[in-house]
Amino acid sequence: MASNLHLMSETLQNTAMMPDDGPMGLPGNFYTSTDYFEFEKAELLRRGWHCLGRSDEISQPGDFFTIQLLDEPLLVVRGNDGTVRVLSNVCRHRSMPVAQGTGNRKLFVCSYHAWSYGRDGALVRAPHMQNANFDQSKCGLPQIRCEIWQGFIYANLDSDAQDLTPQLRDLDAMIEPYQTEDFRTVHAAEEVWDCNWKCLVENFMEGYHLSVVHPQTLRGYTPTELCTKSASGELFTSYHANYPDDIPSRGHGAPGLNEKQRHRSTLFSIFPTQVVSQSASLLVSLNLHPLSVNRIRVRWTMSVYGDDLSEDAIQQRIGLWEEVNREDREKLVRLQQTLSSAHAQAGPLASDDFEGTIRDFHKYLARSVATAQQLSIPAAH
Ligand code: FES
Ligand SMILES: [Fe+2]
Repeated sequence: MASNLHLMSETLQNTAMMPDDGPMGLPGNFYTSTDYFEFEKAELLRRGWHCLGRSDEISQPGDFFTIQLLDEPLLVVRGNDGTVRVLSNVCRHRSMPVAQGTGNRKLFVCSYHAWSYGRDGALVRAPHMQNANFDQSKCGLPQIRCEIWQGFIYANLDSDAQDLTPQLRDLDAMIEPYQTEDFRTVHAAEEVWDCNWKCLVENFMEGYHLSVVHPQTLRGYTPTELCTKSASGELFTSYHANYPDDIPSRGHGAPGLNEKQRHRSTLFSIFPTQVVSQSASLLVSLNLHPLSVNRIRVRWTMSVYGDDLSEDAIQQRIGLWEEVNREDREKLVRLQQTLSSAHAQAGPLASDDFEGTIRDFHKYLARSVATAQQLSIPAAH
């Protein structure tokens, strides 16, 4: 296994360094090897920032939702002080989950022996615990690192990870006119997809498939041939899915937007597991939570700008995105079946406007693996 991993790591570094006029994808085993997935989990996923949802999903003190990030059950809750916290959802007594689902609580009471935790994770009650050595103050729920960026909630399981927000400054500049932070969340849903997590990142981030896979749902607004690559950085990549000139823009959005910005969707990924579509009136985020090498839980949210869209229009957009996701999912599940083939070798990628974002993603993967293995690899340009 060690030598196999070393070989794959070399392949990844070589792929990241392919010349710009001859970009290549990755071979199938990067998406099907259980050993490689375990390696990614330890070295990349457990060290990365992962989007959990939108902060306005828990707008009031005591509002919460639960979520599993890799092996960690988490409780995302707004405290009495208004702060969003990400807490371990594992009881400090004998490890039952403390909370389930979503809701609002003054106290989180464990369903097993009724230990009760406050909204900040402190243990406030532990019935019949009369042992002299029991120290209630030392049994709070551990707090996980958390940052809010543009209204999204992120968590990182690695206490040594670099802060997220400073690494997204170039992306901030690009989406600033949309007022992403102010978008109001109208829909959140979870589904399980039988595919490797990287396949969904790559699929969402390339415009090459849009006209082929989404002829009814997306092609009219975002045909492949109008896609243009946009900014990238160490932790993100992006492209514009531009609308044809003769089509009206979809909603007005924030006052600072120009006509060009109203006339396109900007798709960006914050590595490793969030993919987002930002347009004038609509913000859709797919947050991927890898469960195994060929299975992910997708938690997705839809948010809207102000009162731009009527209730009917919102329902229509939710239906549209459900259909788009269904179309992508069907492709990715079928793709996963063939990635185990001995003939699933690295294939040539299309030019930057269509698949340059995949290259950015692979460069990010290569840098992360190189850091993990203490190798050196040139930084992204
Ligand atoms: S496991 Fe939670 S109170 Fe016992
Ligand atoms: Fe798609």
